[in-house]
Amino acid sequence: MAKLKGKPVAESEVEMIEVALPNDANPLGNVLGGRVMHLIDMAGAVAAHRHSRSILVTASVDYLDFVHPIRVGQFIILRSHVTRAFHTSIEVEVRVFRENYLTGERLQTSSAFVTYVALDEAGHPKPVPPVIPRTREEKRRYREAEERRRRRLAMAERAHRRYFEKLPSKKPR
Ligand SMILES: CC(C)(COP(=O)(O)OP(=O)(O)OC[C@H]1O[C@@H](n2cnc3c(N)ncnc32)[C@H](O)[C@@H]1OP(=O)(O)O)[C@@H](O)C(=O)NCCC(=O)NCCS
Repeated sequence: MAKLKGKPVAESEVEMIEVALPNDANPLGNVLGGRVMHLIDMAGAVAAHRHSRSILVTASVDYLDFVHPIRVGQFIILRSHVTRAFHTSIEVEVRVFRENYLTGERLQTSSAFVTYVALDEAGHPKPVPPVIPRTREEKRRYREAEERRRRRLAMAERAHRRYFEKLPSKKPR
């Protein structure tokens, strides 16, 4: 099969802004973790779609902390970019910020690495274009992605053995 042409990180960068609404929050007015997780998945998926221009599924999310609360009325800002593509999978970094629109104060509240897998029409994993890192920072994230992937796959293997009632089988999709 012909080698896919690489794409620079800048081609798939995303900035997404949401207003935190009462329906997104608990009774104290803090945005629910699940809502933030959903937005992380969306912002990450848009970057991965722009990079791969294909159907994708989310394979894993690591490592996710909620370091500061996001309050109703604040802006939720998500920035995402691909860090590296492997064979059929793409790692995307997503950073979450809260912004007070009255003062302009902005604070990072979470960061996560999300892995997406590209699928063909039959639902089988298919190759994705490589990422071309250009800046120093992009090159660092690209290099470090290899080690994150190694750990992620090892942890998934261990967790599936330990916590799944039955080991996940490859079929059916
Ligand atoms: C993700 C999925 C397609 C992987 O299937 P699989 O049978 O393990 O496929 P393969 O072994 O061929 O692996 C395909 C790719 O997935 C990656 N992958 C598999 N499990 C992974 C995990 N836990 N974390 C990160 N990547 C993973 C593999 O490393 C491989 O990447 P590579 O080709 O770049 O090396 C499959 O587990 C799936 O369909 N899961 C459900 C996805 C879903 O419904 N998500 C939520 C809604 S979008």
